[in-house]
Amino acid sequence: MPAIVLVGAQWGDEGKGKATDLMGEDVDYVVKFNGGNNAGHTVVIEGEDGQREKYALHLLPSGILTPSVTPIIGNGVVVDLEVLFEELDGLTARGVDTSKLLVSANAHVIAPYNRTLDKVTERFLGARKIGTTGRGIGPTYADKMNRVGIRIQDIFDEGILRQKVDAALALKNQVLVKIYNTRAAEADRVVEELLSYADRLRPMVADTALVLEQALNDGKNVLLEAGQATLLDVDHGTYPFVTSSSATAGGACTGSGIPPTRVSRVIAILKAYTTRVGEGPFPTELDDDNGEFLRKTGAEYGTTTGRPRRCGWLDVVIGRYATRINGVTDFVITKLDVLTGLDTVPICVAYDVDGVRHDEMPVGQSDFHHAKPIYEELPGWWEDISGCRTFEELPGNAQAYVLRVEELIGARVSAIGVGPGRHEIIERHTLLD
Ligand code: GDP
Ligand code: IMO
Ligand code: MG
Repeated sequence: MPAIVLVGAQWGDEGKGKATDLMGEDVDYVVKFNGGNNAGHTVVIEGEDGQREKYALHLLPSGILTPSVTPIIGNGVVVDLEVLFEELDGLTARGVDTSKLLVSANAHVIAPYNRTLDKVTERFLGARKIGTTGRGIGPTYADKMNRVGIRIQDIFDEGILRQKVDAALALKNQVLVKIYNTRAAEADRVVEELLSYADRLRPMVADTALVLEQALNDGKNVLLEAGQATLLDVDHGTYPFVTSSSATAGGACTGSGIPPTRVSRVIAILKAYTTRVGEGPFPTELDDDNGEFLRKTGAEYGTTTGRPRRCGWLDVVIGRYATRINGVTDFVITKLDVLTGLDTVPICVAYDVDGVRHDEMPVGQSDFHHAKPIYEELPGWWEDISGCRTFEELPGNAQAYVLRVEELIGARVSAIGVGPGRHEIIERHTLLD
């Protein structure tokens, strides 16, 4: 049976958590395959009494809120063990059963010195900073590639762990002290801290690639849930203003051990406008009242760091790029309700780069920095759409907007978000076969 990949189409925070939660009842496994606790996925669940419960998930896959799902942290993830247990304890206290969680033995661990390095590197970069979440993500992936990383399996072998921490710190302490003028990390304390998690971690650790292969052979549905998004991908994003992992569909395979031949569908989540957290180019960014309108109406404040998100109109050059890079079969458009009440709704359909029209993402970084949006204006709508559950119930202009976006991005729009709640969604086509 199939593996389904779910990715973000823009710069993150498109509503991946909500989409995963929506599919939760119909899938057996939800795998996080990249990133770590830089992610912030919000799920809003309406209780039987009509009360809304909000969950913010950082390191755990959003599927953990569905009792029938086995959540998996894949090998492509970087794990902050302190955060892992804090998040598990937080969910347990709210009555969520987290006992099925599996963690790949090959996932990398965010060592405390990498959290420090993330922060001091950003300070050192000054005006050229990336605006990272400060969680140690970049330095931990750098260690992985540099072959001096600490993996989950190392926590269970004190001798090996000690050797690896010593090897990593031989260079890092020089950098911390001599370049960044900060304190050296003490190997003993690092080893002690990491070992303190071993007993609690042990029962969760598995060969998750093997578990997933068996699940697929048994006809189970597996959802591979991305953190971050296409334009934050280390290869395909707006480098260097990206995260340090593979957030696109290709990363779902390397980050989980599921081969491409098992993936039957790629679902991309596209917000009806655009947001970005951190530094980097953003052609449709609005510094005016419209930007403020989107931020306020869409509650665009970071789930992880609380930073106000930069806001702008929808950019379908990016949407088309996401279709191409991820092989998108289905889009979920989220937050259509936020666009209610505008006279006209602009869509960026191409860029003007120094007088030349670009219909595709410019390949040169400087061109993208200079890109000026070329807009198509569509008529707006004023009706409250949060109660709509079928496409036909949407006002005519909202329908026309969705159909035009569908045409421009080149893949079908299978669902439309009309509010944050679990049921505030219009399903046009099933997301699972
Ligand atoms: P993720 O990182 O992609 O999971 O997205 P975030 O959770 O960081 O940000 C998306 C925000 O939009 C969350 O606060 C969601 O509750 C909210 N949201 C998701 N879908 C919709 C929608 O269709 N309408 C509205 N108004 N809010 C939504
Ligand atoms: P979700 O999964 C939005 C951004 C940071 C920064 C850059 C690098 O909720 O969509 P990092 O700490 O990863 O080294 O920071 O990437 N970033 C995100 N922006 N949503 C996210 O996750 C993000 N994860 C990282 O703001 O610009
Ligand atoms: Mg988020």
